[in-house]
Amino acid sequence: MRKINFFDTTLRDGEQSPGVNLNTQEKLAIAKQLERLGADIIEAGFPASSRGDFLAVQEIARTIKNCSVTGLARCVKGDIDAAWEALKDGAYPRIHVFIATSDIHLKHKLKMTREQVIERAVEMVKYAKERFPVVQWSAEDACRTELSFLAEIVEKVIDAGASVINLPDTVGYLAPAEYGNIFKYMKENVPNIHQAKLSAHCHDDLGMAVANSLAAIENGADQIECAVNGIGERAGNAALEEIAVALHIRKDFYQVETGITLNEIKRTSDLVSKLTGMAVPRNKAVVGDNAFAHESGIHQDGFLKEKSTYEIISPELVGVTADALVLGKHSGRHAFKDRLTALGFQFDSEE
Ligand code: KIV
Ligand code: ZN
Repeated sequence: MRKINFFDTTLRDGEQSPGVNLNTQEKLAIAKQLERLGADIIEAGFPASSRGDFLAVQEIARTIKNCSVTGLARCVKGDIDAAWEALKDGAYPRIHVFIATSDIHLKHKLKMTREQVIERAVEMVKYAKERFPVVQWSAEDACRTELSFLAEIVEKVIDAGASVINLPDTVGYLAPAEYGNIFKYMKENVPNIHQAKLSAHCHDDLGMAVANSLAAIENGADQIECAVNGIGERAGNAALEEIAVALHIRKDFYQVETGITLNEIKRTSDLVSKLTGMAVPRNKAVVGDNAFAHESGIHQDGFLKEKSTYEIISPELVGVTADALVLGKHSGRHAFKDRLTALGFQFDSEE
């Protein structure tokens, strides 16, 4: 089966969540847990952005041995140099360089022409490749970029040495079919695309980040970028735990495998929530407190007879140990009796 690489950006895009500030020790604790979880790549930060970020990325790169540690850099020599200094002692160093490609960003933010963006991207990928064994290049705002231009720049950065091409939905704008189509288009229109892995990076502004990531996988993406608990800039990134569990539970449909150790998911989610101060909503898929709780009498009765009537994910799969049956106003006799028995009471039905 095709293997999907998990590129975790909890410590970079995730830390860009408004109000979140992690110190080096906290970042290191999360990185170690991500290593236990089986992330393939950890994006530890943006080394050129501050001294603190540089030191945290360096510490993580020196400590983590079983994943590739990466750092973000603009297509600017100084950023690439800072990333190399921070990452060079890592077991599998790689860099993540990006530049925006949409006309909106070119006109209003970069004030560059398309030709200038191509030239800069190619030059900086070559510069990065002189240092790093693996260069990932991202087309920021890829989803609002004209497809023929996107294909042209992707071909050129692959020729320049990029072996991972990331196509972010930076503003969380596309629907799954549209996002999937970008990957299909690249596969069909970029002549050297087989020399690179394609990567998805989705934001959740319209609540479609996970669905879009899965659509990318269906259309040939070999890597997905995601964050634990879906944290990240604005409405956040695609939630790592949701994608990992969807790919596992629906392996029959997606036909791919991952290196994620699923029963480390809850522990990872709890740690990230505690250290970032970002609470997980009770009804959040996979890691919310209510994700495995059944309250209504009909559901509880079915569940007690056969769990699969109302449960497609077993809590143990993701490391959750909690009461499944919550007694509330919708609960019925079966669950009540079950709870009394568990508490050691024996009543006859009249009592
Ligand atoms: O959302 C985005 O486009 C990013 C890039 C820097 C990859 O985070
Ligand atoms: Zn992002």
